[in-house]
Amino acid sequence: MRQKIAAGNWKMNLTLPEARQLTQEIKHHKIPKDVNVILGCPSPFLYMMNSLVEKTDRLNIAAQNCNNNDSGAYTGEVSHSMLSSVGVNYVIIGHSERREYFNESNKLLKEKINTLIANGFKIIFCCGEPLKIRKAKTQSNYVLNQLQQSLFHLTSDEMKQIIIAYEPIWAIGTGLTASPAQAQQMHSFIRKQLNSKYGKATSEATSILYGGSVKPGNAKELFSMKDVDGGLVGGASLKPEMFKNIINAF
Ligand code: PGA
Repeated sequence: MRQKIAAGNWKMNLTLPEARQLTQEIKHHKIPKDVNVILGCPSPFLYMMNSLVEKTDRLNIAAQNCNNNDSGAYTGEVSHSMLSSVGVNYVIIGHSERREYFNESNKLLKEKINTLIANGFKIIFCCGEPLKIRKAKTQSNYVLNQLQQSLFHLTSDEMKQIIIAYEPIWAIGTGLTASPAQAQQMHSFIRKQLNSKYGKATSEATSILYGGSVKPGNAKELFSMKDVDGGLVGGASLKPEMFKNIINAF
Protein backbone atom coordinates (compact mmCIF):
# COMPACT_ATOMS: atom_id res chain seq x y z
CA MET A 1 0.00 0.00 0.00
CA ARG A 2 1.07 3.54 -0.73
CA GLN A 3 2.12 5.84 2.09
CA LYS A 4 -0.36 8.50 3.15
CA ILE A 5 1.51 11.72 3.72
CA ALA A 6 0.69 15.08 5.27
CA ALA A 7 3.61 17.35 4.44
CA GLY A 8 3.93 20.93 5.61
CA ASN A 9 5.89 23.53 3.71
CA TRP A 10 6.70 26.43 6.00
CA LYS A 11 8.43 28.40 3.20
CA MET A 12 10.15 31.55 4.54
CA ASN A 13 8.03 31.86 7.66
CA LEU A 14 8.46 31.53 11.45
CA THR A 15 11.24 32.31 13.89
CA LEU A 16 13.09 29.63 15.84
CA PRO A 17 10.84 29.87 18.96
CA GLU A 18 7.74 29.72 16.75
CA ALA A 19 9.10 26.77 14.79
CA ARG A 20 9.95 24.92 18.00
CA GLN A 21 6.48 25.51 19.42
CA LEU A 22 4.79 24.34 16.22
CA THR A 23 6.95 21.22 16.00
CA GLN A 24 6.28 20.38 19.66
CA GLU A 25 2.55 20.58 19.05
CA ILE A 26 2.72 18.27 16.06
CA LYS A 27 5.02 15.92 17.96
CA HIS A 28 2.49 15.60 20.78
CA HIS A 29 -0.39 15.05 18.40
CA LYS A 30 -1.42 11.43 17.93
CA ILE A 31 -0.43 10.80 14.32
CA PRO A 32 -2.65 8.05 12.85
CA LYS A 33 -0.76 4.76 12.36
CA ASP A 34 -0.90 4.80 8.58
CA VAL A 35 0.05 8.47 8.10
CA ASN A 36 3.50 10.00 7.69
CA VAL A 37 4.00 13.63 8.58
CA ILE A 38 6.83 15.66 7.07
CA LEU A 39 7.67 19.24 8.07
CA GLY A 40 9.46 21.35 5.43
CA CYS A 41 11.62 23.68 7.52
CA PRO A 42 13.81 26.67 6.68
CA SER A 43 17.53 25.74 6.72
CA PRO A 44 18.56 27.43 9.98
CA PHE A 45 16.00 25.34 11.90
CA LEU A 46 16.73 21.92 10.40
CA TYR A 47 19.20 20.74 13.00
CA MET A 48 17.04 21.66 15.95
CA MET A 49 13.76 20.49 14.44
CA ASN A 50 15.31 17.18 13.52
CA SER A 51 16.65 16.72 17.05
CA LEU A 52 13.15 17.41 18.36
CA VAL A 53 11.45 14.76 16.22
CA GLU A 54 14.09 12.11 15.64
CA LYS A 55 12.60 9.72 18.18
CA THR A 56 9.01 10.30 17.06
CA ASP A 57 7.54 7.69 14.73
CA ARG A 58 6.05 8.87 11.45
CA LEU A 59 7.31 12.45 11.87
CA ASN A 60 10.16 13.67 9.68
CA ILE A 61 11.84 16.92 8.77
CA ALA A 62 12.46 18.01 5.17
CA ALA A 63 14.69 20.69 3.73
CA GLN A 64 13.04 23.01 1.19
CA ASN A 65 15.96 22.98 -1.22
CA CYS A 66 19.41 21.54 -1.84
CA ASN A 67 22.19 22.47 -4.24
CA ASN A 68 23.06 20.06 -7.07
CA ASN A 69 26.81 20.26 -6.38
CA ASP A 70 28.55 18.28 -3.65
CA SER A 71 30.38 21.26 -2.11
CA GLY A 72 32.35 24.33 -3.06
CA ALA A 73 32.10 28.05 -3.79
CA TYR A 74 28.31 28.46 -3.88
CA THR A 75 27.68 31.23 -1.38
CA GLY A 76 24.36 30.92 0.41
CA GLU A 77 23.64 27.39 -0.75
CA VAL A 78 23.07 24.17 1.19
CA SER A 79 24.61 20.81 0.21
CA HIS A 80 23.35 17.26 0.57
CA SER A 81 26.16 16.39 2.99
CA MET A 82 25.21 19.34 5.21
CA LEU A 83 21.65 18.01 5.31
CA SER A 84 22.80 14.45 6.03
CA SER A 85 25.09 15.67 8.78
CA VAL A 86 22.15 17.21 10.64
CA GLY A 87 20.07 14.06 10.19
CA VAL A 88 17.74 15.32 7.44
CA ASN A 89 16.84 12.87 4.70
CA TYR A 90 13.86 14.45 2.96
CA VAL A 91 14.09 17.38 0.53
CA ILE A 92 11.38 19.29 -1.34
CA ILE A 93 12.56 19.84 -4.91
CA GLY A 94 11.06 21.84 -7.75
CA HIS A 95 8.53 23.90 -5.84
CA SER A 96 6.92 26.40 -8.21
CA GLU A 97 8.27 29.30 -6.14
CA ARG A 98 11.82 28.02 -6.70
CA ARG A 99 11.10 27.50 -10.37
CA GLU A 100 9.65 30.99 -10.74
CA TYR A 101 11.71 33.25 -8.43
CA PHE A 102 15.01 31.39 -8.62
CA ASN A 103 14.82 30.28 -12.25
CA GLU A 104 15.10 26.59 -11.49
CA SER A 105 14.69 24.76 -14.79
CA ASN A 106 13.65 21.17 -15.40
CA LYS A 107 17.28 20.47 -16.29
CA LEU A 108 18.64 21.89 -13.02
CA LEU A 109 15.99 19.97 -11.08
CA LYS A 110 17.13 16.78 -12.77
CA GLU A 111 20.67 17.46 -11.55
CA LYS A 112 19.45 18.13 -8.01
CA ILE A 113 17.44 14.92 -8.09
CA ASN A 114 20.45 12.93 -9.29
CA THR A 115 22.62 14.30 -6.49
CA LEU A 116 19.98 13.57 -3.85
CA ILE A 117 19.11 10.10 -5.17
CA ALA A 118 22.78 9.12 -5.21
CA ASN A 119 23.05 10.18 -1.59
CA GLY A 120 20.01 8.28 -0.35
CA PHE A 121 17.52 11.11 0.14
CA LYS A 122 13.76 10.95 -0.23
CA ILE A 123 12.49 13.68 -2.52
CA ILE A 124 9.15 15.45 -2.67
CA PHE A 125 9.16 16.45 -6.33
CA CYS A 126 6.72 19.27 -7.15
CA CYS A 127 5.07 19.74 -10.51
CA GLY A 128 2.05 21.71 -11.70
CA GLU A 129 0.81 24.17 -14.25
CA PRO A 130 0.26 27.95 -14.21
CA LEU A 131 -3.21 29.39 -14.82
CA LYS A 132 -2.50 30.25 -18.46
CA ILE A 133 -1.81 26.58 -19.22
CA ARG A 134 -4.90 25.43 -17.32
CA LYS A 135 -7.02 27.91 -19.28
CA ALA A 136 -5.58 26.55 -22.53
CA LYS A 137 -6.43 23.02 -21.26
CA THR A 138 -2.88 21.82 -21.91
CA GLN A 139 -2.05 21.04 -18.26
CA SER A 140 -1.55 17.31 -18.79
CA ASN A 141 1.15 17.79 -21.39
CA TYR A 142 2.76 20.51 -19.30
CA VAL A 143 3.02 18.27 -16.24
CA LEU A 144 4.13 15.29 -18.33
CA ASN A 145 6.94 17.40 -19.73
CA GLN A 146 8.07 18.33 -16.18
CA LEU A 147 8.09 14.64 -15.22
CA GLN A 148 9.90 13.57 -18.38
CA GLN A 149 12.57 16.22 -18.14
CA SER A 150 13.41 15.92 -14.45
CA LEU A 151 12.29 12.51 -13.22
CA PHE A 152 11.71 9.85 -15.83
CA HIS A 153 15.39 9.09 -16.38
CA LEU A 154 15.42 7.39 -12.95
CA THR A 155 15.30 3.60 -12.62
CA SER A 156 12.29 2.00 -10.96
CA ASP A 157 14.48 1.26 -7.96
CA GLU A 158 15.40 4.94 -7.68
CA MET A 159 11.74 5.92 -8.04
CA LYS A 160 11.21 4.39 -4.58
CA GLN A 161 12.87 7.54 -3.23
CA ILE A 162 10.35 9.82 -4.96
CA ILE A 163 7.11 11.32 -3.68
CA ILE A 164 5.31 13.42 -6.29
CA ALA A 165 3.41 16.58 -5.32
CA TYR A 166 1.00 17.96 -7.89
CA GLU A 167 0.57 21.65 -7.15
CA PRO A 168 -1.37 23.70 -9.69
CA ILE A 169 0.27 27.13 -9.41
CA TRP A 170 -3.08 28.94 -9.64
CA ALA A 171 -4.13 27.23 -6.40
CA ILE A 172 -1.01 27.97 -4.31
CA GLY A 173 -1.60 30.55 -1.60
CA THR A 174 -4.56 31.93 -3.52
CA GLY A 175 -7.42 30.35 -1.61
CA LEU A 176 -8.47 28.76 -4.91
CA THR A 177 -8.31 24.98 -4.62
CA ALA A 178 -8.47 22.49 -7.42
CA SER A 179 -11.74 20.64 -7.00
CA PRO A 180 -11.35 17.06 -5.79
CA ALA A 181 -12.34 15.97 -9.31
CA GLN A 182 -9.67 18.18 -10.92
CA ALA A 183 -7.04 16.87 -8.50
CA GLN A 184 -8.09 13.26 -9.07
CA GLN A 185 -7.99 13.73 -12.83
CA MET A 186 -4.38 14.96 -12.78
CA HIS A 187 -3.26 12.43 -10.17
CA SER A 188 -4.73 9.60 -12.18
CA PHE A 189 -3.00 10.96 -15.30
CA ILE A 190 0.36 11.06 -13.44
CA ARG A 191 -0.15 7.52 -12.16
CA LYS A 192 -0.93 6.32 -15.69
CA GLN A 193 2.31 7.89 -16.91
CA LEU A 194 4.20 6.15 -14.10
CA ASN A 195 2.52 2.94 -15.11
CA SER A 196 3.50 3.18 -18.77
CA LYS A 197 7.06 4.18 -17.91
CA TYR A 198 7.76 1.91 -14.93
CA GLY A 199 4.93 -0.62 -14.71
CA LYS A 200 2.24 -1.32 -12.18
CA ALA A 201 4.35 -2.02 -9.09
CA THR A 202 6.01 1.40 -9.23
CA SER A 203 2.91 3.33 -10.20
CA GLU A 204 0.89 1.77 -7.41
CA ALA A 205 3.64 2.34 -4.84
CA THR A 206 4.37 6.02 -5.58
CA SER A 207 2.60 8.52 -3.33
CA ILE A 208 1.14 11.51 -5.17
CA LEU A 209 0.28 14.49 -2.96
CA TYR A 210 -1.96 17.40 -3.84
CA GLY A 211 -0.85 20.95 -2.97
CA GLY A 212 -2.60 24.29 -3.31
CA SER A 213 -4.72 25.84 -0.54
CA VAL A 214 -5.29 22.57 1.33
CA LYS A 215 -7.27 23.43 4.48
CA PRO A 216 -9.06 21.44 7.20
CA GLY A 217 -12.31 22.16 5.34
CA ASN A 218 -11.27 20.57 2.04
CA ALA A 219 -8.62 18.01 3.06
CA LYS A 220 -11.02 15.16 3.73
CA GLU A 221 -12.67 15.37 0.35
CA LEU A 222 -9.36 15.76 -1.48
CA PHE A 223 -7.71 12.87 0.39
CA SER A 224 -10.68 10.61 -0.28
CA MET A 225 -9.92 10.66 -4.00
CA LYS A 226 -8.51 7.36 -5.23
CA ASP A 227 -5.17 8.71 -6.44
CA VAL A 228 -4.65 11.50 -3.90
CA ASP A 229 -2.32 10.12 -1.23
CA GLY A 230 -2.06 13.25 0.89
CA GLY A 231 -1.15 16.89 0.74
CA LEU A 232 1.70 19.36 0.59
CA VAL A 233 0.38 22.17 2.72
CA GLY A 234 1.70 25.73 2.89
CA GLY A 235 -0.33 28.33 4.81
CA ALA A 236 -2.37 25.88 6.88
CA SER A 237 0.76 24.02 8.05
CA LEU A 238 1.81 27.10 10.03
CA LYS A 239 -1.20 26.83 12.32
CA PRO A 240 -0.99 23.81 14.63
CA GLU A 241 -4.74 23.30 14.96
CA MET A 242 -5.28 23.50 11.22
CA PHE A 243 -2.41 21.17 10.39
CA LYS A 244 -3.50 18.64 13.02
CA ASN A 245 -6.96 18.61 11.48
CA ILE A 246 -5.40 18.00 8.08
CA ILE A 247 -3.36 15.11 9.52
CA ASN A 248 -6.62 13.67 10.89
CA ALA A 249 -8.42 14.08 7.57
CA PHE A 250 -7.32 10.76 6.04
P1 PGA B 1 -0.62 26.74 0.15
O1 PGA B 1 0.84 26.32 -0.37
O2 PGA B 1 -1.14 25.55 0.92
O3 PGA B 1 -0.39 27.94 1.03
O4 PGA B 1 -1.45 27.04 -1.04
C1 PGA B 1 1.09 25.04 -0.88
C2 PGA B 1 2.53 24.93 -1.35
O5 PGA B 1 3.05 25.90 -1.90
O6 PGA B 1 3.17 23.88 -1.16
